[in-house]
Amino acid sequence: MSISLNNIPSKLPNVKTTIFTTVGNLARKHNAIDLSQGFPNFDADKKLMDLVAKAMNEGHNQYAAMQGYYGLRETISQKIEKGHGKKYHPEKEITVTVGATQAIYTAITAFVHPGDEVIVLKPAYDCYEPAIKINGGIPVPLQLDADGYQVDWDAFKNKITSKTRMVVINTPHNPSGRIFSRDDMLQLQEILRPTNIILISDEVYEHIVFDGKEHQSASRFDDLASRSFVCASFGKTFHVTGWKIGYCAAPAELMHEFRQVHQFAVFCVDHPVQRALAEYLKDEGHYLELNAFYQKKRDFFLEGLKDSKFRFTPSQGTYFQLLDYTAITDEADEELAERLILEHKLASIPISSFSVDNRDDKVLRFCFAKNQETLERATAILRALS
Ligand SMILES: Cc1ncc(COP(=O)(O)O)c(C=O)c1O
Repeated sequence: MSISLNNIPSKLPNVKTTIFTTVGNLARKHNAIDLSQGFPNFDADKKLMDLVAKAMNEGHNQYAAMQGYYGLRETISQKIEKGHGKKYHPEKEITVTVGATQAIYTAITAFVHPGDEVIVLKPAYDCYEPAIKINGGIPVPLQLDADGYQVDWDAFKNKITSKTRMVVINTPHNPSGRIFSRDDMLQLQEILRPTNIILISDEVYEHIVFDGKEHQSASRFDDLASRSFVCASFGKTFHVTGWKIGYCAAPAELMHEFRQVHQFAVFCVDHPVQRALAEYLKDEGHYLELNAFYQKKRDFFLEGLKDSKFRFTPSQGTYFQLLDYTAITDEADEELAERLILEHKLASIPISSFSVDNRDDKVLRFCFAKNQETLERATAILRALS
C-alpha cells in the first residue's frame, strides 16, 4: 500500500513555488543573463576561503556550540557595539544561525501562537508569511505605495490590535531598495512603546547603504532593541550566500525562548565556517568597504540605463534596483519578466509576487551584484527596449 495524502491536509496549501525558483529555472533553461535572484556572480575573498580551509585542517570539524562558536559571538558583539553603541552579551544574547532565514523562522516559531497577528510591510521578502502561517499565525499586510515605498505610520498604527504579537520590518528593504530613516525608527519605537509586541528587524543588507546615508539598526533605539530580534546574514555581506550563515541578536529573555526552538531545529551551524568568520570579522574593512563597492555597481548599472525608457529612483541600499516600465508597455509585470527571458535573455523579478493580492505596479527588480561585463550586457538589452 502506498501513502495517500487525501486525509493529511497540507500545512501551506496556498503557497506556490517561490518566484526565485520559477524565474531562476526559466533563466537557466533559456540561457538568460540572471539579474533575478539576489546573489553575486563573483567570488568571495580568497582570504576568507583560506580561513575555512585552515579551520578544517586544524580539526574544527565536529559540532560547534549550540548557540554558535563563542569566538564568533564575541566578535559579533564587538561589531554591533562599535557600529550601533549597543552591547549584546555574547553568551546570552547572540545566536549563530543558518542564514537570516532560519533566524527569522525560529523567532516566529518561538513566539507566534495560533490566532496571533503579525504585521508585515508589503512588498515583502517571501519567507515571512509562510513562517507565520505554519505556526497558525495570521499575517496582517500593510501595502506600501510604489511611489517611494514610504511607511504611513498612522496606517501602520491602525493595523495593531489586541492580537498583534509581532511586527516584521526590513531595512535596507528588499525589493524597493529604500532604507528606514532615523525618524521612521523613532516613529516605530513610539508606536510600539506601550505594547507588548515583538519586533523582527531583518537587516541582512546592513552594509549595503549608499550616498553617505547610515543604516538605522533597531539595536540603536533602546526601546526597540528591548523587544527586537535583529537578524543579519554573512551570506549577503561576504558574497557567500551559498554558505547560509547569519545570526540574530536579542535581549536574553527573548533569546532564551529562541534557543528553545533553535536547539531542536538545527542544534548548531557549520563549525569551520564560524571559526573562519570569527577571524575574518576582526578586520572591519572587510565589511565597511561594502557600501562603496556596491554603490559603484549601482551607479554603473544606472548610468547604463540613462538613455533607456525605464523610470527609476536610485536604490538607497541593498543590491537591488527597481525599474518602472510604464513608458514601454502595459503588460503585466509577470508577462514582461517572462518575455524578457524568452525574447531578450535577461531575467528579473516581477514585484507583484511580493505585494498584497499580487498588486501590479509595473515594476521589475534587478540585482546589480554582478560583474562589469554582465551589467554591461544587461543594460544594453534594457536600453534597446522600447
Ligand atoms: C530581505 C531578506 N531577508 C533575508 C534573506 C535571507 O538571508 P539568508 O540567505 O542569510 O538566509 C534575504 C535573501 O535574499 C533577503 O533578501
